[in-house]
Amino acid sequence: MEDRPITLSPSLSNTHSSSEEDKAVLQVSGGASLHGHVGISGAKNSALVIMAGALLCSSQDCRIRNVPALADVTRMGEILSALGVKLERQGDSLLVNASHIAQSKAPYELVSQLRASFFVIGPLLARLGVAKIPLPGGCAIGARPVALHVRGLQAMGADVQIDHGIVNAHLRGRNKRLQGAKIYLDYPSVGATETLMMAATLAEGETTIENAAQEPEVADLANFCRAMGAKIRGAGTNTITIVGVPSLHTTDYAIIPDRVEAGTFLIAGAITHSEISLSPVIPDHLTAVIAKLHAIGAQVIEDAPNRLRILPGYRHLATDIETLPYPGFPTDMQAPFMALLTLSDGDSVITETVFENRLRHVAELTRMGADIRVKGTHAIVRGVPMLSGAPVVATDLRASAALVLAGLAARGTTVIQGLQHLDRGYENLELKLQKLGANLKRLPSVEHLESPLIVPETTIAVPVAEPS
Ligand code: EPZ
Repeated sequence: MEDRPITLSPSLSNTHSSSEEDKAVLQVSGGASLHGHVGISGAKNSALVIMAGALLCSSQDCRIRNVPALADVTRMGEILSALGVKLERQGDSLLVNASHIAQSKAPYELVSQLRASFFVIGPLLARLGVAKIPLPGGCAIGARPVALHVRGLQAMGADVQIDHGIVNAHLRGRNKRLQGAKIYLDYPSVGATETLMMAATLAEGETTIENAAQEPEVADLANFCRAMGAKIRGAGTNTITIVGVPSLHTTDYAIIPDRVEAGTFLIAGAITHSEISLSPVIPDHLTAVIAKLHAIGAQVIEDAPNRLRILPGYRHLATDIETLPYPGFPTDMQAPFMALLTLSDGDSVITETVFENRLRHVAELTRMGADIRVKGTHAIVRGVPMLSGAPVVATDLRASAALVLAGLAARGTTVIQGLQHLDRGYENLELKLQKLGANLKRLPSVEHLESPLIVPETTIAVPVAEPS
């Protein structure tokens, strides 16, 4: 098979942060109230997996609409291009042509930067009968193993060996097709459900995935695959049934709005005691988040189809949160909601059950004057009257959003470093916030700050309760 030129269209390749851009900081002057309306972008966690899903289509271009311009989307594009896929960005659409996959091996240097890229193992194996994907490795929020993905593919007849950090999967026998299987997931992993559902679309026979993840992005992927001719039932429930077909055809599909971005803006309204509206959103996707906003005294109404309006309370109450797989409270909203609860009336207990290391934003919020104690995977948040601006560092994607939100409410100026995390998952966040009246701006580096950055001598240690 001849090598195909890798063509990344200009707009797809320019959302990649260089080391220069990693020096950029966000200067947030707190206290401004917000007003107006904000547009919500397409869902990052749908875009990434649906781009991988386009590998299943052996005919012409698939058009994927409403694709946000994010660093993670660029990275996934580079991985697909390295496999020989042609990609073209046209506005918020992505044309993906996987008719000639030239490679079954994804490059380590790219996969290691984007965990979601591991999900290509399912479609590649289903299309080519072989796939060699580097182990994605852990990240800031946890070890992130992939055993459930591997075990499911083995149940479908794949021979999977992990060797030198590479997951080598291939099919024996002449017909090189995965076989339908009954799969029970020990944990309703989003990624494992998506990988196995994609693989099963081209398998021989019927596959059922039990204890499947029910996240809206899983259902969005299933709808995309169905639009290409796949036979999938039950996506969005804990049991998914897929009857394999010989091949899938092209489609033109628009992905769902980003419920995490929408949740982040609801909190921006609440934490600044502002009334704002946002659309497009699918309110059902935010049920758990809206319930917690109501619990603290804010009001969220659907004042037009697919549009939400937040009417903030005067002084928000405390509430307890436990992150869970969907439809439970989303782990991706834990950090932003914690920022809000730092200013509530009373004590809130936040329990992170999905990822083992997703409380790293606590230290930075404490630097801004929050009163938070960590005990294992629990954070006890004692509401304080006011936060104060400080220099802080974002440790991961959702932690960076929490620091922006805290900065909007804080007295004085907050300077946030580590914006490469923010750019992975929020499209034009500061522009959207500026349009709502927020006082913040991105500066090339700390050297460009209006007033010098006062870096405290000592780092603030979070009081950790002794293990009892
Ligand atoms: C998806 O990650 C999202 N990423 C995450 O969003 C999100 O936090 C997560 O689902 C949970 O909702 C994308 O969709 C690209 P999991 P994923 O497999 O699929 C364990 C964000 O901020 N597990 O459901 O990787 C795992 O370690 C990101 O946008 C195994 O033990 O999540 C974790 O503790 C962050 N073995 C738990 O399951 C496995 O084989 C949930 O992981 C797979 C997972």
